[in-house]
Amino acid sequence: MKKIISILMTALLMTSLAACGNNSQPAAAKEEAKPAAEAPATEAPAAEAPAPETAAPANEAPAPAGHSDVLVAYFSATGTTKGVAEKIAAVTGGDLYEILAAEPYTEDDLNYNDRSSRSTTEQNDKNARPGIGSEDISLEGYTTVYLGFPIWWGEEPRILDTFVEKYSFDGITIIPFCTSGGSGIGRSGPNMEALAGSGTWLEGSRFSGNVSEADLQSWIEGLK
Ligand SMILES: Cc1cc2nc3c(=O)[nH]c(=O)nc-3n(C[C@H](O)[C@H](O)[C@H](O)COP(=O)(O)O)c2cc1C
Repeated sequence: MKKIISILMTALLMTSLAACGNNSQPAAAKEEAKPAAEAPATEAPAAEAPAPETAAPANEAPAPAGHSDVLVAYFSATGTTKGVAEKIAAVTGGDLYEILAAEPYTEDDLNYNDRSSRSTTEQNDKNARPGIGSEDISLEGYTTVYLGFPIWWGEEPRILDTFVEKYSFDGITIIPFCTSGGSGIGRSGPNMEALAGSGTWLEGSRFSGNVSEADLQSWIEGLK
């Protein structure tokens, strides 16, 4: 009988010891989890630190194979076309290139009520070729170029003519787009296609400045 009681006592003792052991495990796990949970806060700066080192060479050396094959090139005198260009770049993952005038357009230059203003004079002269002030861009590696501009007197500003005559668009599909006070894109695309003499030109479209990215996405999908 004593033996049986002793065996039962031993069994009871072992069970309670085992139970204690089980309790301590989650506690240990929690303790381990704590630093791990705190880790991101302390690791964050370390994780951020290498980013500039790895990102910088990629930005500094846009090897033809390394950049997007989509370029969104645009001229914008008052920012409306720029906004649409940025949305197209966001939707396509394309690179942005701003065509800046070597001699920036002043408010007086843009006064379409003045028949002798710079913009009116240029638009009246098919041979006007305002200079480009932005750095030259290599089109190598780009297969699609979205080309944006405001409508001036029913067509593309002459600085677009300067741009398309300056570059070769061999092997590139060019998709014109514009913003305006209401006029359509008119003959801007065919005008520029004739002056460029290279590239595959798709029919362009006119957008209002507040066009949504979703609408631009549908337009782009419709082009394919
Ligand atoms: C010189 C000049 C001529 C313009 N001619 C037209 C036109 O013929 N039809 C039209 O709808 N809007 C016309 N506009 C309005 C612009 O096309 C419109 O404001 C455009 O969205 C401006 O784009 P931006 O801010 O990118 O320069 C003209 C604007 C300027 C400055």
